[in-house]
This record gives sequence, structure tokens and C-alpha cells, in this order.
Amino acid sequence: MKKPLLALTVAAAVTATTTIFSVADDHKEGEKKGLSHERMEEIMKVGFKSDKRKGTKSLLDRITEGTATKKESKQFMAMVLDLESHHVEKGTQEDYVGKTDALVYAMAGVLAQKDGSVDALKKAANCKACHEAHRE
Ligand code: HEC
Repeated sequence: MKKPLLALTVAAAVTATTTIFSVADDHKEGEKKGLSHERMEEIMKVGFKSDKRKGTKSLLDRITEGTATKKESKQFMAMVLDLESHHVEKGTQEDYVGKTDALVYAMAGVLAQKDGSVDALKKAANCKACHEAHRE
């Protein structure tokens, strides 16, 4: 009985990922416009950065510690999809999109409850790597 169950889980994860990627492709059409500074700030401050002093915890931190609701996880997914349309002036767009794609893939895995996806998300959400390469 174990195998068919595993196959089903994998199929479900793949379906979820495919759906999310067709959304991501549609999204790319708006890429030329780039991302507003306000949205970027919201993504970084609400999505990525926890602030101990203010007692706020980012969506990312809640997802990786397993306390985020499904709605919050979807909200973070929308953020990482938006992140991709930011135009970098430092580093190449190709490298940047590689980084945001990794975030989208990992988040698709989290939503599909795929094994190892939380670790993949932690790895993809490397603040320093992305900031050093692409933040002015
Ligand atoms: C995939 C790339 C990427 C990752 C990963 C990333 N950031 Fe950022 N972040 C950026 C870019 C690009 C900017 C500069 C945005 C601008 O000013 O246009 C930025 C800006 C910020 C800002 C300033 C926002 C503002 O405008 O006030 C904060 C705070 C921040 N990041 C926190 C974090 C934290 C914390 C993490 C990790 C948990 C993280 N970021 C991960 C790309 C990334």
C-alpha cells in the first residue's frame, strides 16, 4: 500500500507546482513594469524580516517554524511571485530570477506539504546572498 500512496502524494505536489508555475508565467508579462518600492518594502518587512524589538515575526519565520496559517503561506507565495518582477540594477537579472525561482519552487513544495520543502525554503531565503548580489 505504501507505493501508490507515495505516487499520489508526488502527483499532487507536481500538480500544485504546475498550477503555481502557470500563474508565475502570467505574472512575468507584467515584469517590464517592475515592482513598486512600496510593495518591495512590504514584502521585505512583512514577508521576510522579523523584528524582535517590535515583537513582529515575518511570514517566512512563521512558515519555517510551522506556525503560519494556510492563508499566510499563500500570502507569502504571492510575495515571492511578485519579488520576481523586481528589476535589479546591481548584479544580473538572470541570477536574481534564479534566486526568486528557488523561493517559488520551495514555497510550492511547502504548500504541497512536500518533504524537505521547509529546508529548501530556508536555503532559498538567504537574505545576505541576495542582498550582497542585488541590493544597492
Ligand atoms: C531574492 C532576493 C532577496 C532575498 C532572499 C531577501 N531580500 Fe531583502 N531585499 C532584496 C532587495 C533587492 C532589496 C532592495 C529593495 C529596494 O530598495 O528596491 C531588499 C531590501 C530589504 C529590506 C529593506 C526594505 C525597505 O525598502 O525598507 C529589508 C528590511 C530586507 N530586505 C530584509 C530581508 C530579510 C530579513 C531577508 C531574509 C530573511 C531578505 N530580505 C531576503 C532582495 C532579497
